Amino acid sequence: MSKDKFTVTAALPYANGPLHLGHVAGVYLPSDIFVRFLRMNDHDVAFICGSDEHGAAITLRAKKEGITPKEIVDKYNGIISKAFTDFGISFDVFHRTSESIHHETAQEFFKVLDEKGHFTKETSEQYYDEEYNQFLADRYITGDCPNCKSPNAYGDQCEKCGSALSPNDLINPKSTLSGKTPVMRETSHWYLPMERHEEWLREWIKEGKLDGVQQHDPSKWRNQVIGQCMSWIDGGLRPRAMTRDLDWGVKVPVVGGDGKVLYVWLDAPIGYISATKQWALDNNKDWKDYWTGDRKLVHFIGKDNIVFHAVIFPILLKAHEDLILPNNVPASEFLNLEGDKFSTSRNWAVWLHEYLAAHPTKIDELKYVLTSIAPETKDSEFTWEEFRARINNELADNLGNFVNRVTVLTQKYYDGIVPTPGEFTATDLEVIAEMKALPQRISDLVYAYKLRDAQAEVMNLSRLGNKYLAETEPWKMVKDPENAERVQTIMYIALQITANLSIVLQPFLPSTAKILSTFLKFVSTHWEAAGGNELLPNGHTIGTSHVLFEKIDEQFVATELEKLNASKVVEPIFDAQKAETSFDDFTKMDIRLGTILEAEKVAKADKLLKLLVDTGIDKRTIVSGIAQHYSPEEVIGKTVTVLMNLAPRTIRGVESHGMILMAENANGELSFVSPEKDFKAGCGVR
Ligand code: 2FM
Ligand code: ZN
Repeated sequence: MSKDKFTVTAALPYANGPLHLGHVAGVYLPSDIFVRFLRMNDHDVAFICGSDEHGAAITLRAKKEGITPKEIVDKYNGIISKAFTDFGISFDVFHRTSESIHHETAQEFFKVLDEKGHFTKETSEQYYDEEYNQFLADRYITGDCPNCKSPNAYGDQCEKCGSALSPNDLINPKSTLSGKTPVMRETSHWYLPMERHEEWLREWIKEGKLDGVQQHDPSKWRNQVIGQCMSWIDGGLRPRAMTRDLDWGVKVPVVGGDGKVLYVWLDAPIGYISATKQWALDNNKDWKDYWTGDRKLVHFIGKDNIVFHAVIFPILLKAHEDLILPNNVPASEFLNLEGDKFSTSRNWAVWLHEYLAAHPTKIDELKYVLTSIAPETKDSEFTWEEFRARINNELADNLGNFVNRVTVLTQKYYDGIVPTPGEFTATDLEVIAEMKALPQRISDLVYAYKLRDAQAEVMNLSRLGNKYLAETEPWKMVKDPENAERVQTIMYIALQITANLSIVLQPFLPSTAKILSTFLKFVSTHWEAAGGNELLPNGHTIGTSHVLFEKIDEQFVATELEKLNASKVVEPIFDAQKAETSFDDFTKMDIRLGTILEAEKVAKADKLLKLLVDTGIDKRTIVSGIAQHYSPEEVIGKTVTVLMNLAPRTIRGVESHGMILMAENANGELSFVSPEKDFKAGCGVR
């Protein structure tokens, strides 16, 4: 049977910032493992990536850093591509959407679809920032998400719930340029009427069929991918604008397109094609072989990219008529960091390039930990303590220890020469059977995109070896010369396990596998060889070894945590300004200074303090929700701001007359608003 051919893509990272461990765990590491495995299995495979250099993500970053978009993409493309190389992600090509071959490819693609009548041109009112003279699409506009209601959703996407949006969907829209509520203004754009595609999309996503022909196996698609697509489709597909009024991007190549560029989510996935074209040109291949025929196209992405890869891009590919649709879209959930979401703006991240600079000899260690906690089907979390525990308990104590025992004992007992085994016992045969069965299990898991479980099975092989040695104790048996043959048999089997490890480790921990190969003086890059019981024939001489994984101490963890906390930026995200109010309305508020005379906790209410406040005109009881920020003792004597004429309310059985005004920061911490001079209770606040 001929082997499936694959084109594997990894989401093009925006060249607007460096990569963090969340990107690596969710997209780049799993795709790299998958591809390394495919290569070992002799699949014809192209592994495609590059930087995504257009769109508001870039121009807004340029504005923030005070440099041009071109300078931004050059800067971050450099950082990102170096980090990928240093980390050992084995792309066949890492391209850039700013290259001319990409502009030409994307324009050609647009023209083909336009000529085939797949776009409609519509004039409509769109949000416009009058201060900046700019239409506000995508990240130029934020507001509350209509689906999950979280604030700061972008005009094209809510990063919180992952839903794809249009600016008009946002509640309380605000321009990210001026911070103001935008006005509406007329403009014309090319739209993709997605609703025309609903029927085939449903059949294709849910049943894997296109025009009745089976294209993929939907049972191999992750639930969250099918779920997100179907809920988007069920919500009603609508025409989606494929062009933008911007000057940074791929120019619209048809009449009327002046001053407009392609929508970044049209341009970026075409980047996979242009990257393939460049790679094909450089390697004497035909790019079409990678995008047509019986090839499997697989997109590794994060969950915020699902509908773009599993709905919109397939519509475009199908409309183009000669290109294949994805066979699978293995999308990851999110990785969190030390109890919080990764955040570029708050600098709450472990940046890949910084990790590599600090720990250049701990690359496979990071790969191992990230795959162990990969957020394949649900969000997961990276902590430095778990990093330490997994390296010490799993890599060092399990894998490293096994390899070390086998290589050292072989040197010691047999001068490094693989001994001749005697007859196998029932235990030996069981161990051999398990060793033979494991590669198939690993393989099945990899083909099912379950890389986390696959790596766990790899570790089971060394666990099997450790257990075998612990039970047979060759180091004890060797003391009695009568056991010589038995010890030879045990060591022979242990050596075969080690050689098998050097194969099955390759997709996951490529450097470790290489080192192991040098220890054993044995190299096989063919997965097919795994499971073999005579990989190291008797008489073969192995080399010397050293410790594979250094253990990590508590200090390492403490240092990393300190670094993380020290670089954290508390960037406040404040509510947008409320609707205008009149001066008359404002003067209705009676606000004055008051001094807290007494304070006590309100029974059975964690948040509440009951205060007795001297307001200059009376002494009154006010219940205030500050108990998690202030103890009763520390508030007594403080002069604070009081809203006096708020209608009395009974809170937890206590009647409250007024309200203490508090300032709140981005972390939700509260502070009294107190006079800067020695002003007493009763002074009015206006
Ligand atoms: O979410 C992102 O980082 C996008 N730059 C991914 C683009 S993937 C592809 F379509 F190019
Ligand atoms: Zn949302």
